[in-house]
Amino acid sequence: MTETPAFYDDLAGCLAEAWRRLEEGAAHQSGFHTPALATIGRDGAPRLRTVVLRGIDRAARLLRVHCDARSAKAAEIAADPRVSLHAYDPKAKIQVRIEGTARLHGEDGIARAAWAASRPMSRIGYATAPGPGTPLAEGGATAPPQDDDGVEAGFPEFRVIVLTAARLEFLYLARQGHRRALFSWDGKEPAATWLAP
Ligand SMILES: Cc1cc2nc3c(=O)[nH]c(=O)nc-3n(C[C@H](O)[C@H](O)[C@H](O)COP(=O)(O)O)c2cc1C
Repeated sequence: MTETPAFYDDLAGCLAEAWRRLEEGAAHQSGFHTPALATIGRDGAPRLRTVVLRGIDRAARLLRVHCDARSAKAAEIAADPRVSLHAYDPKAKIQVRIEGTARLHGEDGIARAAWAASRPMSRIGYATAPGPGTPLAEGGATAPPQDDDGVEAGFPEFRVIVLTAARLEFLYLARQGHRRALFSWDGKEPAATWLAP
């Protein structure tokens, strides 16, 4: 039987474990490095895609993801900021689901700092034409930038999505009994409760 982790019967410990895993995901290629981000489509239907978790601010309950201003997700967030994020680490057997609101940052201090910290390889996509989601006659019919100046020219299309968590749900799968907990910050006071798994 797997050893019972310290957070097992500790609500605050479950929340700390969730943030620790998210921080680890933003820093390394761990199970939480590439969560799924859900937005509300312009037609009201859910839209889901894999993203890279770039940064976490546990105290402010912020999660940072990068995207292209020309992408569907950017338009969807601009029209309706309600988003949801899902991560599962099969090794840890922990799932985290976050609901909250997202803000898009472009050509401001937050975007500049994130751009400066990005690797050139990550910057190339923002300078590629046509923009993401454009139908192509052939699979390779896009024009990436030819030199460093061309790569830097992508900055106006670069967006930082900053998600503020309003609710976080933690699920730990264990043979000795699963543990599920809900944390919320959208009421008058922060709230925490166990849920039946
Ligand atoms: C491992 C992985 C990581 C990805 N990371 C990002 C990301 O950080 N930002 C992003 O905009 N798209 C990322 N994508 C691509 C998206 O999943 C999606 O295909 C693309 O952004 C178009 O989404 P949209 O049309 O809903 O905007 C990633 C895809 C994979 C497979």
